Order: sequence, then structure tokens, then C-alpha cells
Amino acid sequence: MSDEKLKYVVDNKPILTSLVAGKKYAWCTCKHSKEQPFCDGSHKGTDMRPMVFTADKNEDVLLCACKATASGPYCDGAHNNLEDVYAEATEKEVQSMKGSVFIERDDRGKALIDGGAYVLTPQNSDDTVSGNLSYQPVIAEEDGATKLSFHRLNVTAGTTPWLQYKGVDTVLYFVSGSGTVDIAGKEFQVNKDAGIYVRPGEAFRIITEGDMTVYATACPMLTDLTVTEQNDTSFQSDHAERYVAFNQETANVMANRFYQELVDKKVGSNEVTQFIGQVPQSRAAMHRHLYEEAIVILTGYGKMWTGTKWAQVNTGDVLFLPHRQGHSLECTDEGGMILMGVFYPSGSPAINY
Ligand code: FES
Repeated sequence: MSDEKLKYVVDNKPILTSLVAGKKYAWCTCKHSKEQPFCDGSHKGTDMRPMVFTADKNEDVLLCACKATASGPYCDGAHNNLEDVYAEATEKEVQSMKGSVFIERDDRGKALIDGGAYVLTPQNSDDTVSGNLSYQPVIAEEDGATKLSFHRLNVTAGTTPWLQYKGVDTVLYFVSGSGTVDIAGKEFQVNKDAGIYVRPGEAFRIITEGDMTVYATACPMLTDLTVTEQNDTSFQSDHAERYVAFNQETANVMANRFYQELVDKKVGSNEVTQFIGQVPQSRAAMHRHLYEEAIVILTGYGKMWTGTKWAQVNTGDVLFLPHRQGHSLECTDEGGMILMGVFYPSGSPAINY
């Protein structure tokens, strides 16, 4: 980050602000206002001007305080790259969490931590079996989710029944194996470390010659996965591109870590964002998001801290984070950690406060 950008920094994280529909606001760009993130006239005598905007709805938003955003007045995650170092937990934060209680897994493999957040190791014995498909909800309404639901699907050789989350967006992620996903009659070849988007009103099935593990997110939350032998839905060909594979070459760099958005607006999903990210051995600063989030640990291990409690996380675990729940993921694996996340409403994992 250039010194030019650093000279306007008020804080290296955004300010949570409640906007009122129809109200006009002036976002400070000069950094001198005492009414951050808004202008108090302190720019007078300089050539700086506030950015004036009108809120189109009542909404809680994150307004940029580092003044480096390219999407002013809103935070776009640029604060993560200000010092070329991702915000790690401070010594004070680490000390304050020293008394956190370690939460062990219950019989279902679940460790419930603060605010309804949890870490779950899915147990195969909890699966429902239908032909060559076995599946279980790992994030559902009964777990406290309000925005998204999440199923783990295990598939053996053959063709699954048709599957559908009726009327909502569905995002799939392929953890292992390869095969074909048939979305309402249109086939896509799929490999591990890739995502695919199924539009509301479409059913899908999976065809494979080996074993596959797939995670399916439904947004808005719908725990009922409809399983049928017949497909009565049609592929929506006005949105033909659906498949996005992970490509480290084109991933976004966020200081010493990276992430790539897979399913998002570019394949027509305006509601949900799916990403894959790499975390080095480190402990992130405690932070929050405005969205509800599901994470699968693809490789590596560490600890999830949520304020007064913490749980061990291992490869294959599922993490659920309610919106605004403070959390800090510590990667204790010297090889780093790779994770896949899905959140709703859509956004960027870099946007946090
Ligand atoms: S606070 Fe400036 S981009 Fe996030």
C-alpha cells in the first residue's frame, strides 16, 4: 500500500453504521472529521471534498474508515492490505482470551461455542441413505441458522436421485472426487476444489464412477432437501455459466493470505458468495461480519476462538458463524489451512469489522 493511501487512514477497519432510507450523508474523505465516518466540515481550506450519498433503504452497513476503499463510502476490504500484514490478534487480545473455556464435542461431534457458533465433525452414522447418496444437514434451523442451510452429501459410484432445494439458490462445493453434475438436463464436468451454482427452480443430480463428497448450501435457508426419481425442472439457459474452479494464480491476495470467490455474481448468484481461502500459521484478530457464514476446513487444523469459548478445528470440520458473532480462527498447522466458505447475504470475506 502506498504512503499516499496510508496518509488518510482513520482506522484500519470499517465503522458499522445504521443508514436511514432517503437520508443524505456526507462520508469524510480527508480523515480530519471528528464525526467519523461522516464529514464535520474539517476539510475546509483543503482541496478534499466529502462523498455525498443518499441511502436507498434502512440498512446496517460498513463504512470505510481507512479511506483506501475503491467502493466509497463502503468498505471493500482494502483495509486488510494497508500494512501488507493481515490483522493478527494483539498480545492484549490473546491475554484477554486466556481464560476462554475449551469446549469438547458432544455425541453428534458438535462443540457449541459463543453466540450459537459451533464446530461440527459430521458423523457418517447421522446420514440418510437414498440409493448411492447419503446425506445429512450440518447447518440447519434447529442449529440456530436463520440465513443459510448446509448439507454434506456423500456419493458412491452411480447416479444419484434428483435433488432440489425448492425455490432457493443452491451452491455446491466438491471436496473430493470428480464426475458430472446434471442441472435440470444440462451436464457439467466437475472436479474437486470447484463450485457450481444451481438456480432457484432447478433440480440437480450427481453422476460419478468413484466416491465424491459434496457440500450443498441453500440460501435463504431451506433445510428440506427434496429427493425424487424424476426431474420436472428446466435448465435456465439464459445463465449458462455455472462452474468455477479454484485457480491460485488469479486468487485475491489479502496480505499474507489469499482467497478466490467461486460462485458469486459472475455466474448469476446475487444472493450467495462462495469462496476458497488460504490461511498461514497465524491467529487472526477478533472480527465480525454482517453475513451468516458456513466454513469447511479442507486442509489443516487449528482453533476457533469466539470470546469466552474455543474449540479445536480439524480437516473435514464444519464451522457455523451467526452474523455479527466475533471470531478469531487460529491456524496452528505450520503447513497452513485451506478452507471453503459460503455466506449470505453475498459480499466478500475481506469485509469485516
Ligand atoms: S475500512 Fe477501508 S476498505 Fe475497509
